[in-house]
Amino acid sequence: MALLLPHSNKATHTLVSLLVFVACCISVPNVEAQHTWQDAFKALGISWNANGTLNREIQIPMVPATPSKDSSNPPPIALSTDVRLSYKSDAYVRLYIPLNPPKDRKLPLVIYLHGGDFVLYSVSTVIFHNFCNDIASQFPAVVVSVEYRLAPENRLPESYDDALNALFWVQDQAKGTGGRDPWLEYADFSRVFILGSSAGANIAYHVALRALDFNIWPLRIKGLLLNQAYFGGVQKTGSEARLENDPYVPLYVNHVLWSLALPKNTNRDHEFSNPISGGTYLGRVFRLPRVYIKGDYGDPLVDRSVQLTNFLKSCGVRVTSRFNPGGYHGIELSNRTAAQQLYNDMKFFINSISELEPEHHASS
Ligand SMILES: *[C@@H]1O[C@H](CO)[C@@H](O)[C@H](O)[C@H]1NC(C)=O
Ligand SMILES: *[C@@H]1O[C@H](CO)[C@@H](O)[C@H](O)[C@H]1NC(C)=O
Repeated sequence: MALLLPHSNKATHTLVSLLVFVACCISVPNVEAQHTWQDAFKALGISWNANGTLNREIQIPMVPATPSKDSSNPPPIALSTDVRLSYKSDAYVRLYIPLNPPKDRKLPLVIYLHGGDFVLYSVSTVIFHNFCNDIASQFPAVVVSVEYRLAPENRLPESYDDALNALFWVQDQAKGTGGRDPWLEYADFSRVFILGSSAGANIAYHVALRALDFNIWPLRIKGLLLNQAYFGGVQKTGSEARLENDPYVPLYVNHVLWSLALPKNTNRDHEFSNPISGGTYLGRVFRLPRVYIKGDYGDPLVDRSVQLTNFLKSCGVRVTSRFNPGGYHGIELSNRTAAQQLYNDMKFFINSISELEPEHHASS
């Protein structure tokens, strides 16, 4: 483990590193190289509450849904509404449709998982809300953005469970047995795509694998889209080493985030963070639908996506990948040109699958 090479010759530091090595699965955040977990907490704007929950200083605004054209100024580019999954729980999704859905055809249904390192943010965080507005209006598509529970209060796999429950809710909507939300009348349930960014891409990947164990009729998951997926591993990748002090996802912060998100007493080679290292679901990978993978070589996490691409291909999964030079983690959230390229790419992927596999030929 390269990160244990002493960066200072202080005996205390070496001792700390050794303790990290011995207890690298401990659930409290690790001390990492020259940074402490307190540094990481500061960088993330989080702190512990006395009761063991996390206090998240809100750094990015949250916005309400915009269910009608007049509900925001300027008018929204797509409509959105929050829908409870059942009266028995607080779980909900934010549903999006284009302003003027076509009348002559149904739209692909995109289940979206937002980013935030498993620890931060919500469907209503403005950057993710805007992303969903964009894809609903541009693809166009019906988007189901899943509000999932965050770590460390709810460690993995709880967010996977929440996303899977949202998928089952979509299935119930498709069956229509308990009624159907009028906005879902616009959706083609035989063209479902699971899309995630960063930690959301990790969740999307695991949900697609888990969904293989269930009869989700009449849903058909036609594709999986992984944007700058957040995966990890004990062994540093080339890009993690090269971009160790990246301003967006510095490695020491990543390590603390994984220790908050992973089940207690596990390390970053757990299948949740390093799914190609082994685990329960490895044998199901060949059954995945088509996958789109996007990465940027300026993002420390990029090599994890390169590895996943190669692994999926070796399992016979059909993968379309785009790895851009430069860039950084979350580029599409702050650079309009990069965002538009991503939208165009994803739209092409979704439409090409729909053309390749018309409904009456679908065999999945
Ligand atoms: C924990 O403490 C925080 C801050 O005092 C409070 O907002 C939160 O509701 C508490 N949560 C639980 C589960 O007790
Ligand atoms: C935004 O992204 C595009 C495409 O990746 C890139 O060419 C451009 O330099 C970026 N702009 C800024 C200001 O970073």
